[in-house]
Amino acid sequence: MTKVSMTVNGKAASGDVEGRTLLSSFLRDTLELTGTHVGCDTSQCGACVVHVDGEAVKACTMLAAEASGRKVTTIEAMSNADGSLSVLQQAFQDHHGLQCGFCTPGMVMSAAALLKENPDPTEAEIREYLEGNICRCTGYHNIVKAIMAAAGQDVSRIAAE
Ligand code: FES
Ligand code: FES
Repeated sequence: MTKVSMTVNGKAASGDVEGRTLLSSFLRDTLELTGTHVGCDTSQCGACVVHVDGEAVKACTMLAAEASGRKVTTIEAMSNADGSLSVLQQAFQDHHGLQCGFCTPGMVMSAAALLKENPDPTEAEIREYLEGNICRCTGYHNIVKAIMAAAGQDVSRIAAE
């Protein structure tokens, strides 16, 4: 076992893990931060996206030991300080960017990373950025719309699905 220590959602977190323990498992099983979903464990679905030192990372592609000493942010820290939904989360709700919700934590984390690096993305840029996030329910249209709305864009020109 190896001891890992990192900052998760602004707080110090540590635990003993096996060398093969994935960051997604550490977050979910050790820290009980189950908002980070695991859909495939093989780097395909994007449900497990978190931020590591501000960058979007699929938590099933990183070992917990690799994240040691780094700053990790999960969906649990994406709401406002008073617990209300962030602008991005509210946009997902307002524009029906989720149905079953399984993909949603990863979608929100990816979208937040996109908007940080590109605050005014085009529809095509959003679709390209979300290439690694799979949604089985929505057809993506309303997710893209929600992200555009969160960026302050007029989404009335986007055709209704
Ligand atoms: S669980 Fe990580 S990409 Fe699917
Ligand atoms: S809302 Fe169900 S997988 Fe995306």
